[in-house]
Amino acid sequence: MTEPVTLSFVCLGNICRSPIAHVVAEDRIADSGLPFDVRVTSAGTGNWHTGEPMDPRAADVLRRHGYDPSRHRARHFTRDWFAEHDLIFTMDASNHADVVDLAPTVADHARVHMFRSFDPDAESDLDLPDPWFGGPEGFEDTLTIVERTVEAIVDRLPGLTDGHTV
Ligand code: 4NP
Repeated sequence: MTEPVTLSFVCLGNICRSPIAHVVAEDRIADSGLPFDVRVTSAGTGNWHTGEPMDPRAADVLRRHGYDPSRHRARHFTRDWFAEHDLIFTMDASNHADVVDLAPTVADHARVHMFRSFDPDAESDLDLPDPWFGGPEGFEDTLTIVERTVEAIVDRLPGLTDGHTV
């Protein structure tokens, strides 16, 4: 049996943006009929929230849209995550720079993608704005962007994971 394809979504705290992407991706993958198994994780480049559930505003928006946020516990992204994942999706340019800095090799660097580079509606700014500082409506906007971007990633997954080695 082949190993599952492994994806990770990475933001700063792993309590707002990447947990939303994680939960939506697991939901879409379960419905996708992809001919291989996919394992999804998420993490933060910072470790302040390790072990905590996601931000209640993120959990609320997910619940309102029919997702289950309850299983999430924040994790910290470290260098060894490269060995455990085929593809890593970063939520903004700062997260991207921090993750790339940890890449053991150039080939590992190439497996790190800006999440919104798959957003069909993205314009020149590929950052997923951090809703942490604002009100609940920011979390609705985050979910809208995440849903369409995750759908595009799942559609492209067979091509992205051709010849995966993990
Ligand atoms: P996230 O949002 O990176 O989308 O999880 C943040 C959550 C917490 C903090 C910053 C961003 N913080 O500074 O604690």
